[in-house]
Amino acid sequence: MAARPGVAIDVKRAWPVMALILGALLVAALALWPRIIGTPGRPVVIGGTAVPPVPTLDADAVAQGQSLYAQHCAICHGAHLEGAPNWKEPLPDGAFPPPPTTAPAIPGITPMAC
Ligand code: HEC
Repeated sequence: MAARPGVAIDVKRAWPVMALILGALLVAALALWPRIIGTPGRPVVIGGTAVPPVPTLDADAVAQGQSLYAQHCAICHGAHLEGAPNWKEPLPDGAFPPPPTTAPAIPGITPMAC
């Protein structure tokens, strides 16, 4: 393809400018990173509304959750969160069998019905 007059870019001369632009974008992204993804434990404000802070992942709390799940939830939802095999099929009374606890909210299934 023939070069069009007036649009040729001298790469050797342009790369420092491009490196400067990329560097500035990188610095801006790093500076804004906590505002974009949130910082654990810090309050987050979205559109002027304060939302609960990003929770920190506490190993003790995770272990406690595992234990509580095994004690109170696994009997219906399965030891591995799998739910009942027929969880998508309504029962004769219209209720649903226990879904996998990792399933997204299912229309018609009441969240936290347990
Ligand atoms: C006695 C059986 C039983 C126990 C115990 C139980 N569940 Fe459920 N759970 C169900 C059934 C059945 C449904 C579906 C209810 C419906 O039809 O809306 C359900 C629904 C749910 C849903 C909603 C899923 C969705 O996508 O809508 C969640 C989340 C859930 N259970 C979590 C838990 C947790 C966490 C525990 C333990 C603290 C627990 N369940 C204990 C039977 C149980």
